[in-house]
Amino acid sequence: MTDTDTDKPNQEEGNEGGLFTTLRSKVKSPSELNKELKETVLWKSIFRHKLDGSPRNRSLAVLSNVFLHLHPARINRDAVRYNFTWGMGGITFYLFVNLTLTGTLLMFYFHPSKGEAYRDIMFLQYDVPFGNLLRNMHRWGAHAMVITTWLHMVRVFMTGSYKPPREFNWNIGVLLLLFTMLLSFTGYLLPDDQLGFWAVTVGTNMARATPILGHEGPFGPELGFTAFNDVRFALLGGSVVDANALLRAYIWHCIAIPILASVLMIVHFWRVRKDGAISGPAPVMLESEAARK
Ligand code: HEM
Repeated sequence: MTDTDTDKPNQEEGNEGGLFTTLRSKVKSPSELNKELKETVLWKSIFRHKLDGSPRNRSLAVLSNVFLHLHPARINRDAVRYNFTWGMGGITFYLFVNLTLTGTLLMFYFHPSKGEAYRDIMFLQYDVPFGNLLRNMHRWGAHAMVITTWLHMVRVFMTGSYKPPREFNWNIGVLLLLFTMLLSFTGYLLPDDQLGFWAVTVGTNMARATPILGHEGPFGPELGFTAFNDVRFALLGGSVVDANALLRAYIWHCIAIPILASVLMIVHFWRVRKDGAISGPAPVMLESEAARK
């Protein structure tokens, strides 16, 4: 814009049409703003390479960005088809993020003690604005995560993606499945209602029969385990489901297991990259290419 351009409308001050033209000449179009934004130091310090057509620049743009570099720079096109992965690993991860956020908000309203836990949940559900929505987002999100983790495992099995070189990641996955189930189980007790109480009573009773570590399991009694020092006792912080069990479930549920699961997820995603990205259907080879080999 030149000086003369800006001067002109000023001469028409007081006139509505003139004011409109002045304002319009000063407002930048979205494409101009976009162009200016990309010239700023801040933008250039974050995005170091342009996403233009050359494969080299596209790869550099991915590799030099902290978020994009989690993905491989190049992938097998068929491997990211929804009907190959069902997007199940990604959906499971997004559910975990949702559970972490809603769980953190739930912690603002919850005391893990016998006198308060149930009352806190009732208060949240019936009195706190959007409390019922928050509680149900967390509860249904947890049910969904258990289902999607299993479905993801089924898809990995059906596509044979557990075979070398991905057998290590399969084992990380088995641990992730275990932690997902444990998150679900420890969360069950927290509302301190009848449903949770009996679920944890049944679940921890099974722990009595754990081989070696349970006082009713194979080799347990021989190793000196009793009802007062075995794995069930350690889980409950006592020999019955009571205040200590609630506190232990809370700490496992809100701190220990989420940290362990997050670390394993980082390893899991890193491994997907290092194993040459998602497995994908076998690449098709043309007859002419096969003949050249
Ligand atoms: C918290 C649970 C889990 C999360 C968030 C997760 C996430 C992911 C993601 C995002 C991928 C990329 C491909 C895709 O979306 O399918 C993936 C791949 C993979 N996952 Fe999981 N996963 C979880 C549990 C499991 C379980 C339970 C197993 C098996 C026991 C498993 C084994 C694998 C394997 C072997 C791959 C590589 C597959 C391939 O290359 O095609 N994961 N996972």
